[in-house]
Amino acid sequence: MSYRKLFYAFNFALLAVFVTALVKDNDAQWKTYQRQYYDLMADHLTKQAAAETDPKKAADLRKSAAEYRRHPLAIKQIITDGLGRFDRCTTCHVGMDEYENPGLTTPFTQQPFAAHPDIAGLVKTHPFTKFGCTVCHQGQGLATTLADAHGWVENWDHPMLKGTAIQGSCVKCHGDFAALKGAQAAAEGEKLIHQHGCLGCHAIDGVGGTMSVDLGDIEDKPLERIAGYNFLRVRIDGKQLPLDHWNIQNWILGHLVDDPEQVTPNDPFAKMNTEPIAPSPMPDFSHELTREQAEDIVAYLSGMTKLEEVPYRDHVQGPAAREPRFSDPKAHGHYVFVKYGCAGCHGVDAKAGRRRFNALGPGQKPFDPKMTEAERFAEMEKGREPTLPDLMSGYSHEELVEKIEQGVPASAAKKWDPDGPMPVIYMPAWKGKISKPELDDLATWLLSIGKKQDLGF
Ligand code: HEC
Ligand code: HEC
Ligand code: HEC
Ligand code: HEC
Ligand code: HEC
Repeated sequence: MSYRKLFYAFNFALLAVFVTALVKDNDAQWKTYQRQYYDLMADHLTKQAAAETDPKKAADLRKSAAEYRRHPLAIKQIITDGLGRFDRCTTCHVGMDEYENPGLTTPFTQQPFAAHPDIAGLVKTHPFTKFGCTVCHQGQGLATTLADAHGWVENWDHPMLKGTAIQGSCVKCHGDFAALKGAQAAAEGEKLIHQHGCLGCHAIDGVGGTMSVDLGDIEDKPLERIAGYNFLRVRIDGKQLPLDHWNIQNWILGHLVDDPEQVTPNDPFAKMNTEPIAPSPMPDFSHELTREQAEDIVAYLSGMTKLEEVPYRDHVQGPAAREPRFSDPKAHGHYVFVKYGCAGCHGVDAKAGRRRFNALGPGQKPFDPKMTEAERFAEMEKGREPTLPDLMSGYSHEELVEKIEQGVPASAAKKWDPDGPMPVIYMPAWKGKISKPELDDLATWLLSIGKKQDLGF
């Protein structure tokens, strides 16, 4: 081929690339939505003009309609002041662009054309020009296609928060979020975490148990640290999750609406390991929490991030949390039980000890090596942490305080199947963690709920 021909061939190739790019860009999703918004506005104003009796006003409306009809298309971007965000959401959600639409109301009800809902005056207290969108919603600020922007795609760890999970954002910035209108679900979630004793095993920002991970940065957990086969075991509404729903919110929810043993079954019969390993010791909350309550917990935990730059965090501190005062030592004792997460292992209000896999417990058949694996599993499942009221008659006040201070080491656990896995959960030593006056009232409460011993008279 001569150089001249080669030159032509290259030129044609270049032209083809250029034309394809132009066609593709013209076809861009955001352009369709933006054009639609301007056309809808034009139609709306034209209709208004037709109904208008004042000819001058009608002419003005027609003029604005024509302007909307000719409105050039452009990518819109909010650069937030100090939040490190570049959000192009208003490229499609045009009615939420304060420059384009200062009143922030639109006559439309359908997204992306509708106005932003004004929850608790949010729109005025958090001007979008300053806050952007993703600081509350998450998603991928720079993206301009629907799936990418909303973040429901593989390899994007922070998809747009669904439902009440968006209230995690209020938790990030507002120290006093529990008092805010618009953050009730997150406030309820925080309450439930205390009530159900999550802090017996998990800490949040260093406060709480050390049996499992600190949940104070759960929102930052990189998805690559959660192996795919674990996500395959997560079930919500009894169903496996499609790949684009593998995210932290569903990871947390999956631990609460299903038995965590399903998520982390481990190896109780030592099939893959030299030693047997008990399934997840996390209690099964699926019968204890309603779906809505589980979602409230997700809403609260969605605000547990340490990576996010939130310079406003210090701005909106609430008043320092104060310990409530009690005049009744029993009421205070119950409060202490809740505060330290005793419920995590001994049940809400100490009513029933929770599962302690392969611990020797009441109601089990005696161990028999001839049992099938399924039969053995069922008996191991019956292992329990103590139901405290049943045991209180064996304690004086001082003995009880001492027991709680000392704890019981893991090695003291008695196993049902002597060759089965070690029970994972043990009684922590609380000495130095719970103050003496708190311990005293805790013991007083526990003794007050103790079952009276039947003396046989
Ligand atoms: C390419 C256009 C486009 C972009 C960019 C876009 N959106 Fe949307 N958005 C839509 C459309 C279309 C809908 C309605 C249909 C739907 O929900 O899929 C919608 C719906 C929504 C909804 C309500 C429905 C839901 O699923 O909860 C929210 C909230 C939302 N968008 C937030 C955002 C945020 C935040 C961004 C920026 C990170 C963004 N959008 C960027 C087009 C877009
Ligand atoms: C201060 C936090 C905050 C900011 C900033 C914010 N939003 Fe929202 N947004 C919310 C809350 C809260 C809701 C209500 C969610 C719910 O109740 O389902 C909401 C609702 C929406 C909805 C409607 C969802 C529906 O189902 O109808 C859309 C769309 C939306 N936001 C888009 C945006 C876009 C685009 C931006 C940026 C221009 C933005 N938001 C900025 C907090 C915020
Ligand atoms: C990026 C940080 C940030 C996020 C996220 C955020 N806020 Fe705010 N919010 C602020 C700041 C800053 C102010 C202004 C405080 C001031 O100067 O009084 C404010 C003010 C408010 C106010 C009015 C003042 C007050 O304290 O009563 C309300 C109500 C409010 N926010 C609710 C919410 C809710 C609900 C959410 C979650 C959907 C939320 N905020 C998310 C930072 C944030
Ligand atoms: C008896 C101890 C115990 C209690 C009580 C407990 N958990 Fe767990 N949790 C664990 C253990 C251990 C794990 C580690 C993974 C596993 O074994 O499944 C875990 C894992 C988790 C995870 C996944 C963490 C991650 O980084 O992947 C979440 C989220 C969680 N728990 C939330 C809760 C909540 C919310 C509560 C209270 C409603 C709670 N847990 C109560 C022991 C407990
Ligand atoms: C992480 C789980 C866990 C937490 C949290 C926990 N316990 Fe325990 N507790 C246990 C286990 C397991 C035993 C049984 C130990 C054994 O005998 O092997 C136990 C035993 C006890 C006993 C002795 C019962 C007996 O056998 O006579 C008392 C009393 C007790 N716990 C009180 C408390 C109080 C009060 C709290 C809160 C401050 C608390 N526990 C928190 C797991 C826990």
